[in-house]
Amino acid sequence: MLKTITNIKDIKDELKQLKFSNKIIGLVPTMGFLHEGHASLIKTSACQNDITIVSIFVNPIQFGPNEDYNIYPRDLQRDITVSQNAGADIIFNPSANEMYPEGYKTYVEVKELTEVLCGRSRPGHFKGVTTVVSKLLNIVQPDRVYFGLKDAQQYVVIKKMVEDLNMNVKVVPCPIVRDIDGLAISSRNIFLSSDERKAALSLSKSLFEAEKMIKSGEKDPEKIIKKIKDIISQEKLANIDYIEIVNFDTLKTVDKIRGKVLIALAVKFGNTRLIDNIIVEV
Ligand code: PAF
Repeated sequence: MLKTITNIKDIKDELKQLKFSNKIIGLVPTMGFLHEGHASLIKTSACQNDITIVSIFVNPIQFGPNEDYNIYPRDLQRDITVSQNAGADIIFNPSANEMYPEGYKTYVEVKELTEVLCGRSRPGHFKGVTTVVSKLLNIVQPDRVYFGLKDAQQYVVIKKMVEDLNMNVKVVPCPIVRDIDGLAISSRNIFLSSDERKAALSLSKSLFEAEKMIKSGEKDPEKIIKKIKDIISQEKLANIDYIEIVNFDTLKTVDKIRGKVLIALAVKFGNTRLIDNIIVEV
């Protein structure tokens, strides 16, 4: 039976028991409004660990002042059902006051990797992410923690944080889950009108084209970026934030396609900012 725990002391007590019985723990950190992408993380964790904990916490400090914290979709009852069906054992659903009580002062920051791509358009965002993920890792002390590759930069940043801070956890990346027509599944897709959703298909379409170009031997990032831009720009509702090709480990832009590259983009449709990417290894 799935348990829901809202306070830090209770989850620590629960975990003490589980660790005493040598249970292997997987953590899936989420902001709730769970979809098939989250369900696939939970299922992977349930296969690889004895106990899967899903944290559901809309983290206020990773949203900028003009971003969508207040309207970010929330539905705890549905999240409980999705988690249970996917094989979770415990939901950890703290309040903002539980995580950041009055007088809270400590932040965790990864340099450089957070200053590019989404970090450039969302200053402070990754500091909020690394701070909350550090807190969750300290509270739960899992053996493995799971992240979806739709947020590829987030995965790279957290992997670096775990390495630099000698944290005792394996960071497990999981593939992007897409709707049948190619749109990467995201909690924010709910904000798209039907015309915006149609236009948003240009993201995956352009990334698949880019992958084809690389597979047929194209090595020039500029040509690939131009192709992606041409496809997306055909959609009047699309407002491009960035399209970049970077090395998957360093997140530095590449002047030639070689090794493992991340082709990442962020595009706004109305007020909804979507991200998508593809990782290609040459
Ligand atoms: O990817 C997310 O949903 C969030 O950034 C995370 C990792 C749960 C931290 O709030």
